[in-house]
Amino acid sequence: MQIDDLGMNGEGIAHENKKAVFVPFYLPGEVVENGELLKKSEFRITPVCSYFKTCGGCHLQHLKYEETLKFKEDKIKNIFKKFKIKVKVLPCEPSPKIYNYRNKLTLKCDGEKLGLYKINTHEVVDIAECKISSNEINRAIKIIREINLNNVREIILQNYLNNILITFKIIDKNYNNIIPLKDKLKEFKSYGIFVEYKNNTIFQMGEKYILKEEFNIKYPFTNNSFYQINDEVKNIIYSDILANISTSDKVLDAYSGSGLLSACMARKAKLVTGVEIVPSATQNANKLKELNDLKNLQNINGDFVKEIIYKINFNVCVLDPPRAGVNREAIELILQKGPQKVIYLSCNPATLARDLCLFCERYNISSLKPYDMFPNTHHVETLAVLELKN
Ligand SMILES: C[S@@+](CC[C@H](N)C(=O)[O-])C[C@H]1O[C@@H](n2cnc3c(N)ncnc32)[C@H](O)[C@@H]1O
Repeated sequence: MQIDDLGMNGEGIAHENKKAVFVPFYLPGEVVENGELLKKSEFRITPVCSYFKTCGGCHLQHLKYEETLKFKEDKIKNIFKKFKIKVKVLPCEPSPKIYNYRNKLTLKCDGEKLGLYKINTHEVVDIAECKISSNEINRAIKIIREINLNNVREIILQNYLNNILITFKIIDKNYNNIIPLKDKLKEFKSYGIFVEYKNNTIFQMGEKYILKEEFNIKYPFTNNSFYQINDEVKNIIYSDILANISTSDKVLDAYSGSGLLSACMARKAKLVTGVEIVPSATQNANKLKELNDLKNLQNINGDFVKEIIYKINFNVCVLDPPRAGVNREAIELILQKGPQKVIYLSCNPATLARDLCLFCERYNISSLKPYDMFPNTHHVETLAVLELKN
């Protein structure tokens, strides 16, 4: 079987009797028969992780990094072509770190094994380390393995420099097994431990959050809000967004999360309104406003589509929605309001292209750029800048 393409999820595609056959972990130009590689791609490299192909976290460790960037650029080009949107796709911005870039890792636990789910199953693959996660997260995994995990089903690890937050999701109310960690984590500059039972925090020890500083903004990094997982790439994207904001702008940041981007924009723009649906994220955003004395930033908690958009005056709209994209009603409201600029950051190119089809009625896409936020996986972040047509 001759592999002649890479699919959206980084899997090899062969054609047999005019039908596409998906063959994961093989590359274009390769020939494979009964699982045996008969002809090898010049771009094939040896994966650094021993769990690659089993744990399901990475999809492209077997492909030379420069080629994974081309794959991501082509992926965006193909999706936009499918949606019949004519646009120049800029080259994919590389990640400064290809490994050890994640500041957050969610591990599954079955009481014994601790790791990620085996591809397409709910069977936990026991892992000692995760090559794409930070060194600090990997050090914490080693330490966690020293305690009894029989009542634990999920562990979320987050770090900023040598500070670590660990959230345990457990199946009973007894967390005595977790307490000994407080002595074991002393090698970190600071730690915070959270124990959740049925989605409620029933125990907390150490710090409640890590105080992070980026773009001259101090902000609390907590265990209960969304944050971008690759700080280096996030900083490149935020700088590119800031380059599109001017001092006279009134900005609506429609999916503002814990408010870092809103705060960065508030340092430059005239006024920024951040809208976020999760109350704890808005609380974090308000803390950040206070810490940085940002008088031209307002944070609103609520659904920006249903309640907020009618009440705000803005000439720039920043959209950074979850994977599902922006809903149609919201796009129609933004189209009616007609801000001069729409800056759309997306982690899902399919919903981005779908949404831009609607925006194209009144907007030109002035730039479309992929960023490698998630090296070694098939995922890609994309920033689109739209300008109102005359
Ligand atoms: C991809 S995150 C963006 C966070 C932020 N821009 C950042 O860079 O950290 C999407 C955020 O949108 C929020 N959200 C989802 N639907 C929303 C809605 N209808 N109105 C307001 N916020 C919403 C989610 O809770 C989440 O925090």
